[in-house]
Amino acid sequence: MNISIVILAAGQGTRMRSKLPKVLQPLAGKPLLEHVIATAESLHPKKISVVYGHGGEAVQEHFEGRGAQWVLQEPQLGTGHAVQQALPYLEDDEVAVILYGDVPLVKPQTIQTLADAALEGPAILTVIESDPTGYGRIVRDSSGAVSAIVEHKEATQEQLAITEVNTGLLACPVKQIRPWLETLRSDNAQGEFYLTDVVASAVAGGVPVAAVTGDSATEVMGINDKVQLSLAERAYQQRAVEALMTSGVTVIDPARVDIRGSLECGSDVTIDINAVFIGDVTLGDNVRVGPNCVIENSRVEANTRIHANCVLEDAVVGMNCNIGPFGRLRPGAEMKEGGRIGNFVEIKNTTLGVGSKANHLTYLGDATIGNNVNVGCGSITCNYDGANKHETIIGDNAFIGSGVEMVAPVEIGAGATIGAGSTIGKNAPKDTLTLQRSKQVTIEGWNRPRKKE
Ligand code: UD1
Ligand code: MG
Repeated sequence: MNISIVILAAGQGTRMRSKLPKVLQPLAGKPLLEHVIATAESLHPKKISVVYGHGGEAVQEHFEGRGAQWVLQEPQLGTGHAVQQALPYLEDDEVAVILYGDVPLVKPQTIQTLADAALEGPAILTVIESDPTGYGRIVRDSSGAVSAIVEHKEATQEQLAITEVNTGLLACPVKQIRPWLETLRSDNAQGEFYLTDVVASAVAGGVPVAAVTGDSATEVMGINDKVQLSLAERAYQQRAVEALMTSGVTVIDPARVDIRGSLECGSDVTIDINAVFIGDVTLGDNVRVGPNCVIENSRVEANTRIHANCVLEDAVVGMNCNIGPFGRLRPGAEMKEGGRIGNFVEIKNTTLGVGSKANHLTYLGDATIGNNVNVGCGSITCNYDGANKHETIIGDNAFIGSGVEMVAPVEIGAGATIGAGSTIGKNAPKDTLTLQRSKQVTIEGWNRPRKKE
């Protein structure tokens, strides 16, 4: 069966009270519509059409190059009208599957089940809602067959009591839905063309309507405001963290980990509270992430320990390293095996060699540091002259004393020792002691300044 997916995303989303179009509001760090498109793509449909309206240019721009068909709906006259706009892009041998741009948590398997139920006629996805307010109600006849979907505003007192509701997701063979859509009318409470009226057309034409009942209302929740957005965020995070734990990761408190992207973990990984993972993050076997860490687009290899309060961005960390507490790895940071970055140490665009350490209060930027180097407390690279960045090179086994300023471009030879407190602006030869200090003086009889009377 060929399926063609139509994603309805033209609604205004006024309840978000935001300048950002609703479908671009972030869920787990990605736009709502991104989740829906990714789910659609995972089903390998023949085509994905996105019906857009309000804020359409920004939305389209965001998804440029994704191979979706963008269909403008202007003005927006209802869900049925929205699907009508996509009709020219649907082929008669396909099953059309309608998704909503603001229903991001729906699982691929659920959509597949819906599509499979729609080979001979329409299939709708329903769910039981304890509070069905606002939803279309599923009306069934005495035999239990679906006879209509009645919108909340049109429902009788008796129908309002129905808790089985329309999620809005629907599948139908294109050659059936085409004429039904073409004959939709808008003489209803909202003056809109309701997609749901195709159900009545099917029933009138003697075509049975299949109903697939989803097992959780959360999966099909629609997002209209920031409160619902936060509920969906929690639901998403819970799902993601449960998958992690199922795969063997120890998560100290699943309610206090956020995954905004993809997190791949080896075996026996432990994640403490308030960890945030952004973009693509990989953690090797036995990696331990302490409390309050933010790790973005980084790879951390086996047995490395990240202590509390560290921030890693675009970094690569080798095996058996130690970072933090309060370590910061900025883009281009690379630590080789057994390296150590201690508290209040920041490294940027810098490679730290095997077994090398910078344990306290250090800034290393645009530096290439060899193996077994020790960078003393408070030592920094002066990599920026106010206009350009320059490189610092430190050879293997060098020992940089405390409080050293390395004014780049500069090279410290292998095995060199740099005396504490030096400002090193010229290359330091290998295997020697280099220091740059003024002579220590003691002034006898000197008096501290006193407060004026
Ligand atoms: C719709 C269903 C209702 C269902 C509910 C589930 C209809 C008539 N009603 O109602 O049975 O219970 O969803 O949430 O279908 N959209 C467009 N163009 C439009 C109007 C809407 O693209 O002209 C898009 C919206 O962006 C949104 C989706 O369609 O993604 C649903 O629209 P919405 O106005 O929220 O429909 P409901 O009134 O909630
Ligand atoms: Mg809605």
